[in-house]
Amino acid sequence: MLITIEGIDGCGKSSLHEALTFRLNDLSPVMTREPGATWIGDQVRRAIAEQADPIAEALLFVADHAAHLREVVRPALAEGRLVISDRYIDSRFAYQAVSLSGCIPDPLGWLSSVHNGWTIIPDLTFLLVLPVETALNRTQKRGSAEHFEKAEVLLQVQNNYLNRARAEPGRFVILDGALSPETILSFVENEIRKRTLK
Ligand code: TYD
Repeated sequence: MLITIEGIDGCGKSSLHEALTFRLNDLSPVMTREPGATWIGDQVRRAIAEQADPIAEALLFVADHAAHLREVVRPALAEGRLVISDRYIDSRFAYQAVSLSGCIPDPLGWLSSVHNGWTIIPDLTFLLVLPVETALNRTQKRGSAEHFEKAEVLLQVQNNYLNRARAEPGRFVILDGALSPETILSFVENEIRKRTLK
């Protein structure tokens, strides 16, 4: 089963992902992420830091996804493992739809076709939603401010996520990211346990 956690920067998804590692220890989940911990992932981070051309950057995110599927996701699913990814395909539809607008005519259409036929759609996606101001306060405290982390950008990114969730209500579970980390963690843990029992 493939489960993903998504949301804007500062939504709390990475802390949730980390906490799940311990809470779901008995299920031996494969905990993974995009951008990945590989040389392609490093190039993605470099492209972000150097504000590379948006099309080049988008293609690096897609390259990272392809490597992630081949090296981590497919082998783990083939062994029947539970895979939980911190960011995955929906990050592209949320973020690159914004970064590519004005660069190419139809960013969403382009993103669909570039993934078509080889990606694996998650079984379940947790989307953490919270006011952009709250998220920004959190990232500013961390002292990291990537170019995606501007209020107007994050607002559009979050809207793109919500549009995807509306289009696929059976896959998405929307969570209030302003709730306490413990409340969110327990809820997500229960949902995953319920679904892995089926
Ligand atoms: P993130 O997972 O937040 O990395 P870190 O923990 O190092 O901050 O991802 C880095 C940034 O990349 C984040 O702003 C979201 C963005 N991103 C995209 O724009 N598209 C994608 O497909 C992915 C996976 C991430």
